[in-house]
Amino acid sequence: MRILSGIQPSGKLHLGNYFGMMRPALQLQEKGEAYLFIANYHALTSVHEPARLRQDTLDVALDFLACGLDPERTVFFRQSDVPEVHELAWLLSVVTPMGLLERCHSYKDKTAKGIAPMHGLFAYPVLMAADILIYQSNVVPVGRDQKQHVEVTRDIAVKFNNEFGEVFTIPEPFIPGEVAVVPGLDGQKMSKSYGNTIELFGEPKEAKARIMKIVTDSKGLEEPKDPAACNIFALYKLFANDAQRAEMEANYRGGNYGYGHAKKALAAIFEETFAPFRARRDELRKNMDYVEEVLRKGAERARVESSKTVDRARRAVGLV
Ligand code: ADP
Ligand code: TRP
Repeated sequence: MRILSGIQPSGKLHLGNYFGMMRPALQLQEKGEAYLFIANYHALTSVHEPARLRQDTLDVALDFLACGLDPERTVFFRQSDVPEVHELAWLLSVVTPMGLLERCHSYKDKTAKGIAPMHGLFAYPVLMAADILIYQSNVVPVGRDQKQHVEVTRDIAVKFNNEFGEVFTIPEPFIPGEVAVVPGLDGQKMSKSYGNTIELFGEPKEAKARIMKIVTDSKGLEEPKDPAACNIFALYKLFANDAQRAEMEANYRGGNYGYGHAKKALAAIFEETFAPFRARRDELRKNMDYVEEVLRKGAERARVESSKTVDRARRAVGLV
């Protein structure tokens, strides 16, 4: 089974990214052959500051390695180190109906928010399809908001295969049910564009202060509370094991347990989980040559596969 996912280096990673995409992808490393990449071409649709793009790309590399990406097992690389993905994107674009792209929520949401409707943003799903199909991926772990892009990829792959012969494996999205959407401080989807995130590797004090700001209802300390209706619990249960989860549920229902208590428990489990990752990240940061080397070797391994697929696609359409 080949697993593939990518993440844009367009800001500091947060708990939504971690539970929605990173953790599922890292867990799948054990189950098959994983390809993970840093989508810096995609990030150019929103980041036009070269120094920042460079820095954010390395930061994402550090984040993944710190959180448990094993570069021996997993092929880890920068998207732009495999430039042939653009050739495939072109071959896919000639079978991609405009209507398919016009229906994409992500494009519609971004332009509705006032982002200029440029070609790169519109063609974004075609490049993403090329990312996925070029490695003949079977499973694509992504958060719920990316599911439609994987469906578009499937449609494009089927169309291409029908027209030119079987070149591509048809991929499936993988969205772990319990983590569909990670809520932010205000209960909306956690997203860097809403300013409601808890960053993975900010200052530990800052994470705690943000947790203390999570919005709740105004029930008093003594009143019983509904865990299912609370943002604190929604985040806590992502970290917790079954026993911890059951204990907090009982505390909520029993009364005499305030939201302040729940926030402290969340801050503690956050720290317990991320303190070792932070330590590893600080170590890795002292050795950026190693990080560069991991990405370089990853790209070399990736290109073995990508060049095979591009070659097949070129032959199928009559370029060779
Ligand atoms: P953001 O919304 O902060 O811009 P991205 O769109 O860059 O985050 O998301 C990167 C990955 O993390 C995607 O796979 C996305 O689905 C996942 N992800 C981001 N936020 C969440 C969330 N709140 N819940 C679940 N998954 C998320
Ligand atoms: N569009 C994805 C996001 O914003 C990033 C991405 C680019 C991706 N190419 C991909 C994810 C291929 C999975 C597979 O999060």
